[in-house]
Amino acid sequence: MSAIIEINHLKKSFGENEVLKDISTTVNKGQVLTIIGASGSGKSTFLRCINLLEKPTGGQILYKGENVLEKGYNLPKYRTHLGMVFQSFNLFANMDVLENCMTGQTTVLNRKPEEAKKIAIQNLKNVGMDQFISAKPAQLSGGQMQRVAIARALSMNPDVLLFDEPTSALDPEMIGEVLKTMQDLTKTGLTMVIVTHEMSFAKDVSDHVIFMDQGVIAEQGTAEEIFEHPKEKRTQEFLQRLRT
Ligand SMILES: Nc1ncnc2c1ncn2[C@@H]1O[C@H](COP(=O)(O)OP(=O)(O)OP(=O)(O)O)[C@@H](O)[C@H]1O
Ligand SMILES: [Mg+2]
Repeated sequence: MSAIIEINHLKKSFGENEVLKDISTTVNKGQVLTIIGASGSGKSTFLRCINLLEKPTGGQILYKGENVLEKGYNLPKYRTHLGMVFQSFNLFANMDVLENCMTGQTTVLNRKPEEAKKIAIQNLKNVGMDQFISAKPAQLSGGQMQRVAIARALSMNPDVLLFDEPTSALDPEMIGEVLKTMQDLTKTGLTMVIVTHEMSFAKDVSDHVIFMDQGVIAEQGTAEEIFEHPKEKRTQEFLQRLRT
């Protein structure tokens, strides 16, 4: 297995508040890595540090062996290799579905509009949203918006796609369609890092699971190790709380 991203001793503080304390893990090519943990444990901050929406206060992030935090590293280029899907979709409200999926391709990747359109439509097909190319986000349901957001991210051909609780803002009846879309994606060999509260989904799709507690990785391992045989008391209690 080859490492795409290696995180070494990552730290992040907001003022006095140390939110991430010495986080180390590896994201391997083709792997589905999920991050679970209580609210406030630092999951979103960790994802946001990986794609540098937040600047880490210590440690290393190696992308294909090179430290992206080193002075002079090409950060805009690094960011184009990572896609992000947010809880709140973050679609461009003034653009239709097709434009949402094209704009990054033409402005950031300098693709020609015809090529960008072809790629956008293919990805919209893959998430079952190609019937809606002329719709504006406001005309769509939450589940549909999130599937468009996934198609938009995929259209940038990321090396790694990061998801921050992609189903948490959805009405219950729409969660299934988004999880199904993500489950299909796991079979394409895409490298995915997913923060989620959907434990049965995480159990099904994860190659590797990280359980975070108060800014540290309390335990990590295979889905079976974490969900069936958690070693740490903190992990056991967290999973127990969700069951009751
Ligand atoms: N921009 C910020 N400025 C100051 N503090 C922040 C900022 N972002 C996050 N924090 C703090 O960092 C801690 C971890 O927050 P984070 O959002 O990473 O947790 P989380 O595990 O994603 O929680 P949730 O499950 O509720 O999304 C919290 O105490 C939060 O208040
Ligand atoms: Mg969060």
